[in-house]
Amino acid sequence: MVSLCLCLILFLSPYSCHTVSDRVLNLFPEIREGIIQTVVMAAPKEKKLFTPGPLCCSRSVKEAMLYDVGSRDVNFLDCVKYIRKTLLEVAQVSPEEFTAVPLQGSGTYSVEAVINTTSPREGAKVLILSNGAYGRRMRNFCSWAGIDAHFQEFPEDEKVNLSVVESLLKGSERFTTVAVVHSETSSGVVNPIREIGQLVRKFQPNAAYLVDAMSSFGAMPIDVRASHIDYLVSSANKCLEGVPGFAYAICRTKHLISCKGNCRVYSLDLVDQYLNLEATGQFRFTPPTHTMLAFQRALQEFQKDGGLEGRAKRYQTNRRILKDGMRNLGFRELLDDSHEGYIITSYFFPKHPKFCFPTFYSKLSELDQVIYPGKVTKADCFRIGNIGYLFPEDMEHLLACIKKVLQEMGLPVPLSA
Ligand SMILES: Cc1ncc(COP(=O)(O)O)c(C=O)c1O
Repeated sequence: MVSLCLCLILFLSPYSCHTVSDRVLNLFPEIREGIIQTVVMAAPKEKKLFTPGPLCCSRSVKEAMLYDVGSRDVNFLDCVKYIRKTLLEVAQVSPEEFTAVPLQGSGTYSVEAVINTTSPREGAKVLILSNGAYGRRMRNFCSWAGIDAHFQEFPEDEKVNLSVVESLLKGSERFTTVAVVHSETSSGVVNPIREIGQLVRKFQPNAAYLVDAMSSFGAMPIDVRASHIDYLVSSANKCLEGVPGFAYAICRTKHLISCKGNCRVYSLDLVDQYLNLEATGQFRFTPPTHTMLAFQRALQEFQKDGGLEGRAKRYQTNRRILKDGMRNLGFRELLDDSHEGYIITSYFFPKHPKFCFPTFYSKLSELDQVIYPGKVTKADCFRIGNIGYLFPEDMEHLLACIKKVLQEMGLPVPLSA
């Protein structure tokens, strides 16, 4: 045995690690095959994601990434151009008035970029209308950057209150940006962005109106013009069903250009990103090439599926199956029936001594069903999303798995009130 090891060391010593492993493996093709098999088998198992993101996407969207493409390659520049143009079409706004500016990173980066870009270095004041975690995150952007903000908080299970908004906007404070989340994914509440926008335009005509439509764009109707939106933000891996890696802001071009020189963070400067994209067709820094290729395919599939109408219909059906099925199992929703959202639902933890969320979560995950913890502060909840590449049969299967897990945990089915 010792001599065998010595021989092996002598045989391998002149080579670098990489060369050594290649050489050894080439001598034993069956071992090489075995290793490849093991690596493939160790790849994470595909699961169904009933979450706010990352979300499931189609195989063909994932396959669109199987190409290496240079950032200056004509095919890639065409892809960027197609994405920017198509996003404006999805938003139903004209390229004469609006521009789509993609930015590397997750959704948070683009919301933070808009707040930084629209806040002048002197005299900025942001009004944040918040009823959940993503509104609170906007307050963090401001405090981090030293931007003055008026943070107006509303209950997490209620819509932003329009009379409070009106009196704030009528007051003496002048705001440079007014920001609100459309579909507050932390609870499922959908805010009245159109009415808020009308109030902003009426009482503070110079303020930029920012709508975080991260989890609603592409699946819930948004009338950008009638809502007087100046900046609408979403990301690649939400209702348009691309893969994560970049987000985008749909910006009123004239306002965007007026913000030149504001941004305190070089990489988040949307004006600079826009000017560079316009001048060269390229991102300023390494673009998320594979993600953009996937998103191009996702947009084509979105159109093939009937655009916003088709997607809304599928998600509404998913949500209806979930709502009915969970009610039959005895779960209670956080929001009452006056809420019209169909993106994500928060459920109270069942009041039963045998219910334990980590166990419930892991048992579902073992069945390849991934749900999400709650994100409201005042109630014990979990969340189930129904967006992404999910279909009615996926929702039915999830419900069957939930029933099975409840039984395994020793809970009564249906749950008692
Ligand atoms: C409404 C909303 N805003 C912002 C974000 C943050 O996006 P990301 O996690 O991609 O940074 C999310 C994420 O789900 C969201 O739902």
